[in-house]
Amino acid sequence: MKKLALALLASTCAISALTLSAQQPLPPAPNKVPLELGAAWYPEQWPESRWDADLTLMEQAHVHFARVGEFAWSTMEPSEGIYKLDWLEHAVRLAEKHHIAIVIGTPTAAPPAWLTQKYPETLRTNPDGRKDQHGNRQQFDFANPKYRELCRIIATKLAERFGHDPNVIGWQIDNEYSREDFSDDTRTQFQQWLKAKYKTLDNLNTRWTTAYWSETYTAWDQIPIQETYGNPGLLLNWKEFVSDTWRSYQRNQLDAIRTHADKRQFITTNMMGWFDAYDQYTVAQDLDLASWDDYIGTGQMDPSENGARHDLTRGFLRKNFWVMETQPGFVNWSPDNNALNKGETRAMAWNAIGHGSEAVEYWQWRSALNGQEQYHGTLVGADGTPVPLYSEVQQIGVDFDKAGPALAGTTVHSDVALLNNYPSRWAIDWQRHNKAFDPVKAFLSFYTPLHDAVHSIDIIQDTDPLDHYKLVVAPDLNLITPEAAKNLEAYVRNGGHLVLGPRSGMKDEDNSLWPQRQPGPLAEMLGAKVAQFYALDTTVPLSGDWGSGEDNLWAEQLSVTSPDTKILMRYGKSNGWLDDQPAAVTRKVGQGTITYIGASLDPAAMKRAAAWMLSDAGLAPILPNIPEGVDVAIRTGSEGNVAKHILILTNYNAEPATIALPSEMHDILAGGNTTTSVTLPQYGVAVLQQ
Ligand code: GAL
Repeated sequence: MKKLALALLASTCAISALTLSAQQPLPPAPNKVPLELGAAWYPEQWPESRWDADLTLMEQAHVHFARVGEFAWSTMEPSEGIYKLDWLEHAVRLAEKHHIAIVIGTPTAAPPAWLTQKYPETLRTNPDGRKDQHGNRQQFDFANPKYRELCRIIATKLAERFGHDPNVIGWQIDNEYSREDFSDDTRTQFQQWLKAKYKTLDNLNTRWTTAYWSETYTAWDQIPIQETYGNPGLLLNWKEFVSDTWRSYQRNQLDAIRTHADKRQFITTNMMGWFDAYDQYTVAQDLDLASWDDYIGTGQMDPSENGARHDLTRGFLRKNFWVMETQPGFVNWSPDNNALNKGETRAMAWNAIGHGSEAVEYWQWRSALNGQEQYHGTLVGADGTPVPLYSEVQQIGVDFDKAGPALAGTTVHSDVALLNNYPSRWAIDWQRHNKAFDPVKAFLSFYTPLHDAVHSIDIIQDTDPLDHYKLVVAPDLNLITPEAAKNLEAYVRNGGHLVLGPRSGMKDEDNSLWPQRQPGPLAEMLGAKVAQFYALDTTVPLSGDWGSGEDNLWAEQLSVTSPDTKILMRYGKSNGWLDDQPAAVTRKVGQGTITYIGASLDPAAMKRAAAWMLSDAGLAPILPNIPEGVDVAIRTGSEGNVAKHILILTNYNAEPATIALPSEMHDILAGGNTTTSVTLPQYGVAVLQQ
């Protein structure tokens, strides 16, 4: 107990010593409650006479906001230039009566039939040249000027009408950007984009090494689109072009809304966790708020894996975020659409809040009688009455109302950052070398044990400020730009502790091999390099400072180039090449250290490696005596002069768990009484304030 108290005290000190600037909570909008429960509501699918009944049920569930409008273009503009927005105004006013604020989605993910019929050039072209058709959604060409003009007009009309509406708290642009276009016009735009970037073909040819296979270009219009197999430089640039094009697609609507909307109305778009068809950092940078759609699909929720996706989203703008959609029990698009267990939906909502979300919205309120998603989970059935899950969501609403004031002004502060970048993920996925090497799984193999020990992790970019982190880990940073290398080197030279995982530092900003061996620009500081990499077809034993372990995925044979580089782990007998060779090394650099792990460690060895990383960085596990299967989240901050320290505990064990608290704490959900321990049933949640 005393040990727990000390550990928590240590973490509190570390937390309060951090500059709060990196992860400021959002300033609350005037009519915004601290924790928002929401529902995706489609009033256009129902007679107006039904709306009051829906809103009454929402209000009874403590729903405080509804997102409306995304996909409703054919109702908003039934024919070109004829705008019908009165229905939306009625919905906003009626929601207001029920104390439900509105987020308006721009409807541009679902262009109406008249639009694509009149302007067929706005239809998206598939990689095989086939045009998309009306009848599903996202059938538009994201780079088409005419489509953008029409999007700007509808966004403007909405913003003119609702930009000062007191009951509209924010905007969602479009919905889940995802499908790029492969038309000749887009290819021309890509070629122009390349010209602006590389200036001369000589430069492009050199940087892409196009002498290889006679790929040399003598005119810009010779450059094709390649998306999965092709010159690595071209592949990367296509992805970057797609990311920039989504950014300008979004900017077009964002500027239209900003011109007419009050500043208090946020603008966001709903992102998608590990989805990587574009660089989510590129797109997020223009938004006021990051938000995402948290779906499990098949199976149950893994709090660590799901938590990592929240942390990823929090890292887009490095502040609190929203869950703009999540599943009410189950989805309809997975191979097996099992429901979350009873109680798990509530645990999942608290998983979001624990990782820095300020809202959880259920998609969707009630399914349309017809349409492609009839089997999806809802809160209300086709008959308009609550489904069994409704009462669990209502409980979440009650929780949020109780805990909102305690959580106001708090966010997640971490001493540990994990570095992510999209080019590295793409680069590995294009050339996995071992098909089982999944860059997200490799990332999570580091994230999970570190998160289990310290409970708060930031996932950020390799070019973000790093100074206030005690430990920075790059699990699979395959592609390190000169700018990132400088940032990482300065971090270590200033006393930071950097750990690089397998495949780090192989490529540069053109997806070319660095001429040095891995980790490329950081090899000299490491005093070691990768002599050879091996995609494993057998299990390789390892042993050393982190005990013994196994690797059956990826093994890099390291070679030490400096006398003060220490070997931490070695491979055992395996393919001959790896026998007794270094697998992990570390070197002190002033007060800092740089460590390189060349092996894919098994979970037990990784757990010990994580403990070593933390102790090397001077960090101790926080709350080390928490029972296995109990998830811990920590949010801290202040309101006025009052410092806040909140623990969120969730029991994922089938059996009840009793947790001794580090000190007397207020049990917020149980009414605020002080206690020194809590007992939680399966999926039970406690929100505790010091
Ligand atoms: C999301 C989408 C929603 C709905 C949902 C179903 O990806 O944004 O409109 O389709 O999936 O799970």
